[in-house]
Amino acid sequence: MVGNYELVTLKGGIRSIRSMTHGETMHVGTDPRTEALELHVGQQKIVGRSLEQRRESSSTPPTPFIIWDVGLGPAANAISAMTALREAAVSTTKDKIPRVEIHSFEISTEVLEFALLHSRELEYLTGWEATIAELLAQNCAEVTPEIRWVLHRGDFSRQAHHAPSPHSIFHDPYSPARNPEMWNLETFASEWKAVDGPECGPCLLTNYTRSTAVRVTMLLAGWFVGKGVPTGEKTETTIASNRMELLENPLDEEWLSRVRSSTNAAPIRGRNYERGPVAPEDYAKVRQLRQFT
Ligand SMILES: C[S@@+](CC[C@H](N)C(=O)[O-])C[C@H]1O[C@@H](n2cnc3c(N)ncnc32)[C@H](O)[C@@H]1O
Repeated sequence: MVGNYELVTLKGGIRSIRSMTHGETMHVGTDPRTEALELHVGQQKIVGRSLEQRRESSSTPPTPFIIWDVGLGPAANAISAMTALREAAVSTTKDKIPRVEIHSFEISTEVLEFALLHSRELEYLTGWEATIAELLAQNCAEVTPEIRWVLHRGDFSRQAHHAPSPHSIFHDPYSPARNPEMWNLETFASEWKAVDGPECGPCLLTNYTRSTAVRVTMLLAGWFVGKGVPTGEKTETTIASNRMELLENPLDEEWLSRVRSSTNAAPIRGRNYERGPVAPEDYAKVRQLRQFT
């Protein structure tokens, strides 16, 4: 153990990191790369959507595909996305390779610095050491001529976001119980504000929970919300969008009927996590959303 973090061994011998402060292991249930690929990169079809955006962009230079990586941590999601994009670029002609910007948000880079010291044990980091060192030193790294990685330091839940409107959000803080300010109405509303407008492109947001309280919170913040793919020990996760038609399994009437009887459906407000049933006025607001009418 060093500082607030320790290396742990997951099923199958894969290594991951545990935060002692939050009492949580990252990417538990599967290895870091598999979770990143299943939950975020694959489910959001990052490679296909970025190629499509490149094809459709008429501007010179072409508009970049923007990813927000909320909760950079030890960077498994960001690296898995960049690896998939780099691999796809190999079989794409030069003038068709999409430009991509990854904007990572992080309150403390201590865990990334810890991961860097253990890059050999954390296999997904091997080969990325110089890029991470550059990112940490300059808050920006040119990964390839087409991929730019930018680091935004500070508390995401308390700041205005100075990054371009995203096409993709990997929402990956600690759990709602341990990190409620990152799952509250104000935070999801700030992400919604970044994709709400005629000038904003289609955006998908993925996260690892299926909590009714979180889904109610996301709906009230403005998002269309659906059931996400299983990953590791999780039988279901959550995907959201600013376009209803992008959701393959939007939450429906049947889900809504269970909200009223749930003991954990109250939206998360403020910085404390309190479980409880949904208040009648919040339920009425959810009922009236376009997703359910
Ligand atoms: C579960 S880890 C992220 C794992 C990471 N996405 C990966 O792919 O390896 C959660 C991260 O969210 C960060 N975080 C928590 N609260 C935050 C906040 N208010 N603002 C910015 N980052 C935050 C934590 O410091 C931690 O590094």
